[in-house]
Amino acid sequence: MPFIRDAWYVVAWSEEITRTPLQRWVCGEPIALYRTEDGRPVAPADRCAHRAYPLCAGRLVGDNIQCGYHGFEYDCGGVCVRVPGQPRIPPRAVVRSHPRGRAVPLGCGSGWAIRPRPPIRRCPTRTG
Ligand code: FES
Repeated sequence: MPFIRDAWYVVAWSEEITRTPLQRWVCGEPIALYRTEDGRPVAPADRCAHRAYPLCAGRLVGDNIQCGYHGFEYDCGGVCVRVPGQPRIPPRAVVRSHPRGRAVPLGCGSGWAIRPRPPIRRCPTRTG
């Protein structure tokens, strides 16, 4: 089913986004929601770049989120900043983040809305 991506989606009540990561699905994609230490909402894709483990099942390390499987750690922009047991960070160890978010008034409170990024288009591969 195609999704309208050029739109705002309310993903949670403001008070639901805490220092405990929370999972939501938007446009068929899982998103992890949490707050930085200074209270700013962060919304990275909820799939670790290593083995696609849900990041919401991990834990927060300062403002970063650490995967609960092998411990890759991602900053607020979705860039891997630490890999346990090795100094080299694979350049492709990045998860998509959704930085375009804003608070929205709802009927009896306030919520947090994001505008999903366009899907990643893959180049066609040559065969033969
Ligand atoms: S699946 Fe996340 S670090 Fe391996």
